[in-house]
Amino acid sequence: MKKVYFDNNATTRTDCDVVEAMGKFWGELYGNPSSIHLFGGSVSKYIEEARQSVASLINADPDEIYFTSGGTEADNLAIQGVARHYIYKEKKQVENCHLVSSQVEHPAVIAQLSYLKEHLGLKSTLVGVSSCGDIDIKSFSKAVSTPGTLLASIMMANNETGVIFPIKELASIAKKQGVLFHVDAVQGLGKLDIDVRDLGVDLMSISSHKIHGPKGVGALYVKRGTPIEPLFIGGHQQHLLRPGTENVCGIIGFGKACKNLYFATKNGVLEQEREKISALRNKLQEGLLSTCIDTQVNGNLNSRVCNTLNMSFEYIEGESILLLMDEMGIWASSGSACTSGSLESSHVLRAMGVPFSMLHGSIRFSLSKYSNESEVDYCLEKIPEIVKRLRKLSPFVK
Ligand SMILES: Cc1ncc(COP(=O)(O)O)c(C=O)c1O
Repeated sequence: MKKVYFDNNATTRTDCDVVEAMGKFWGELYGNPSSIHLFGGSVSKYIEEARQSVASLINADPDEIYFTSGGTEADNLAIQGVARHYIYKEKKQVENCHLVSSQVEHPAVIAQLSYLKEHLGLKSTLVGVSSCGDIDIKSFSKAVSTPGTLLASIMMANNETGVIFPIKELASIAKKQGVLFHVDAVQGLGKLDIDVRDLGVDLMSISSHKIHGPKGVGALYVKRGTPIEPLFIGGHQQHLLRPGTENVCGIIGFGKACKNLYFATKNGVLEQEREKISALRNKLQEGLLSTCIDTQVNGNLNSRVCNTLNMSFEYIEGESILLLMDEMGIWASSGSACTSGSLESSHVLRAMGVPFSMLHGSIRFSLSKYSNESEVDYCLEKIPEIVKRLRKLSPFVK
């Protein structure tokens, strides 16, 4: 049976040269990068090279890159690190502190903010989006002008719909109010060109496994001078902001994946790949829209990353579609990876006001440079049959 992996917003296939680059750090080069001796010191040199590769890709300086265990930790370090600075160091009263974000963020941000509100009393405002998933800029401006606002945290590209937010504009609005700006760029890296200086952001989260690197590693960009405190207390690693012996293999792999993206940008290959991916995504979209009635695409078609297609199939359950697709060897997702397995509808689509009959029947297809036309054709052959089959069983279809 054919296998089609269209779930690249959940995770991507690790590039072979990335696996190869990590190899010797499992074996011969097992030293601790913090050791004084030459054996450990040689490992530290490779870590610094990886830091340089990450920094170059986003136009940061290496000392502004802090390796973390992934995007989730980077988001937590950014938000709670800034809050800790103001509360612990500047002795601000928690009840006078305020954070701003949007209703469509990843759980690493949105669930964190509700946790901080519930358990610490840290107030936050979640800005809404339009029916196309675009952020309400007026509401954002109003929210960041709330007295006591410390930080705004807004994603670059939505993991469920692929909708791109105008980060440069939002960061500049926040800056005018003296509010720090964090961008969760986990779904933007590799799909969009990123220059932290041009964007004017103070903090940025990225994750390795979304760009064909290994899982369990990511980074937080922290603009020099940004007020932030650590979440973990321990050794002296990474300027005390993220102590702990480094995930050497992961960092080396992440560095290599960033280096690959950097060169693919410079030699034009990345642009070609994005065009190819977007053509495949569009073929899938048009094919499904024309063969399945009562179907809609969720998200602004004119402002989406190249690889993502979020579609709702009215009157049927996304999970049932996924199960039947799985039987055919087609792998996609309903909502974000973190919420799959629960039958709760997507908070992103709810925030966009997607009608109830469409809400539960949404599927996210996310392609990568490894996707090809025969996979799209296979989906176009199988998915309409699946939709027809499920609609026959649906009590909502007359
Ligand atoms: C937008 C966004 N932020 C954060 C994360 C979490 O990243 P990680 O899986 O590296 O913890 C994800 C993962 O899907 C994501 O899509």
